[in-house]
Amino acid sequence: MCGIVGILGKHEVSPQILDALKRLEYRGYDSAGIATVHRGQLDRRRAVGKLINLSDRLVHDPLPGKAGIGHTRWATHGAPTEANAHPHQTGPVAVVHNGIIENFRALRDELTAQGAQFSSETDTETIVQLTSRYLAQGMTPVQAARATLKRLEGAFALAFLFDGEEDLIICARRGSPLCIGHGEGEMYLGSDAIALAGMTDRITYLEEGDWAILSRGGLQIFDAEDQQATRPAARIAVESVQIDKSGHKHFMAKEMAQQPAILKAAMEQYSSADGSDVTLPEGLDFANVDRLIMVACGTAYYACQVAKYWFERYAGLPVELDIASEFRYREPVLGPRNMAVFVSQSGETADTLAALRHVRPHIGQVVSVVNVVTSSIARESSFALPIHAGPEIGVASTKAFTAQLQVLALLALRAGRDRGRLSEADYAARLDELRSAPGFVAQALDREEEIRRLTESLSQARDVLFLGRGVMFPMALEGALKLKEISYIHAEAYAAGELKHGPIALIDQDLPVIVMAPHDPLFEKTISNMQEVMARQGRVLLISDAKGLAEAGEVPQALQMPSVPDLIAPIVYAVPAQMIAYHTALHRGTDVDQPRNLAKSVTVE
Ligand code: F6R
Repeated sequence: MCGIVGILGKHEVSPQILDALKRLEYRGYDSAGIATVHRGQLDRRRAVGKLINLSDRLVHDPLPGKAGIGHTRWATHGAPTEANAHPHQTGPVAVVHNGIIENFRALRDELTAQGAQFSSETDTETIVQLTSRYLAQGMTPVQAARATLKRLEGAFALAFLFDGEEDLIICARRGSPLCIGHGEGEMYLGSDAIALAGMTDRITYLEEGDWAILSRGGLQIFDAEDQQATRPAARIAVESVQIDKSGHKHFMAKEMAQQPAILKAAMEQYSSADGSDVTLPEGLDFANVDRLIMVACGTAYYACQVAKYWFERYAGLPVELDIASEFRYREPVLGPRNMAVFVSQSGETADTLAALRHVRPHIGQVVSVVNVVTSSIARESSFALPIHAGPEIGVASTKAFTAQLQVLALLALRAGRDRGRLSEADYAARLDELRSAPGFVAQALDREEEIRRLTESLSQARDVLFLGRGVMFPMALEGALKLKEISYIHAEAYAAGELKHGPIALIDQDLPVIVMAPHDPLFEKTISNMQEVMARQGRVLLISDAKGLAEAGEVPQALQMPSVPDLIAPIVYAVPAQMIAYHTALHRGTDVDQPRNLAKSVTVE
């Protein structure tokens, strides 16, 4: 989603802002812009589409100045046009904004009645119109920004730049993340530390409700009650913000390839010294929990859907599962002995965060499984469990998904042991199985060339159907989501047994049907469903192991996976789900890392 950058520098800042915006590209955007103050005058350049368009504009029409703000916009209010692109400017103030101003209609009506002329359809323009009105009433920039912030409702991160002020940026965080970078006689701000990676590794994260006054010589932070606040500056490990492709064609390819190493590292992080136990934060207690509530969005939701099987099977713990955007609107019944688990790669997904805030007053233990440990979801949960996947830049989640599965499996096994459902011997055996996952994932990755060949014909399809049973049903959903996201082919997933209740009407010789079926206790039933598809000329691709493929008989197309213990099958079968999407997208020539319309971190509801 939208990305924000601000720099008070020693040199011309436009090139630096452009670089920082490039590091934010992964979040997804459809227009971009920069504003600077030079010789006391605000000026800006904006362009629709990729950053190259803004960069071309700057070549022909440079933007001098040593103080500036920049933005990548993911359209919410108003189409991706130049007029709607940020920075927005009214008179002596320019603003970049991430999030949504929920009361913008009321503010816009009020300002219009007072004679304000709007030049965009955005909610953001109400901010600059308000600030400019306060400045016209004689307020200082700090007073005007503060007065504006008090009028705004919604979730946002903001940065203000003013005419005549070459050593001042004011920024605010309410709901959307913002961090400040410290340089030598320079000051930076960004939506995340990745944006600032090329400039500084000393970062201060603003807390919820904070606003700040930046100058080259210092930083003043105020909390939501306008009290001066101290927030620590921490050094960020370089590797935690490194965003090169390491020789791969795409970030997605690099991130898929990283999975064995990440799974191994995550396993080590959560293992006791002798490997016989799962170490969890002090106080996290499964023994007295009567129900698990799991909430997430998209791919993270499918990780929860797999984990539901694990928690119920290995720990005897009832699980209720919700898509975050639906959760709090159905008035869920919550109790003190419930434990809530929120799963999120970014830790900033607005719906997941809102769900967390909804349950917190009613529930004893609020657990999050996150990749970004400094995120709002991590900070607001009672126990944050990192997945240790490193920055995920490809918009389609891959390594975060398998790492989420790994951490959720560890949790389920530990819950099984603590609740007396798993004997010590079973616990040790299942942990050993989990320890074998990285090796099997590496073997699955070795099937890349075969997958590439299989996707040649798949890339011609208009629709694709994925089928699976048990834990393979969420994996089928994940396969369909990945394919839709990056190849733009319409794909759907069904529980294989559900097919004859309607969707079987879709089957004909033009519909590829991908069946995910390891040789597990549900294998035979899934294969019967596959036969029903083949009897109607459906173009089946069966993904199974050696035993499964041998028993299934003749199928139009097959992909062999290693034979793996049932527990880790979802982690291993994630690889073909990802690779099928990746190679289909390559055949179709789509933008794998930044698919159209998508944002990496979805910070609006
Ligand atoms: C799909 C994908 C999304 C995210 C979803 C939740 O490839 O990446 O579906 O899984 O937007 O994001 P997080 O995990 O950041 O909460």
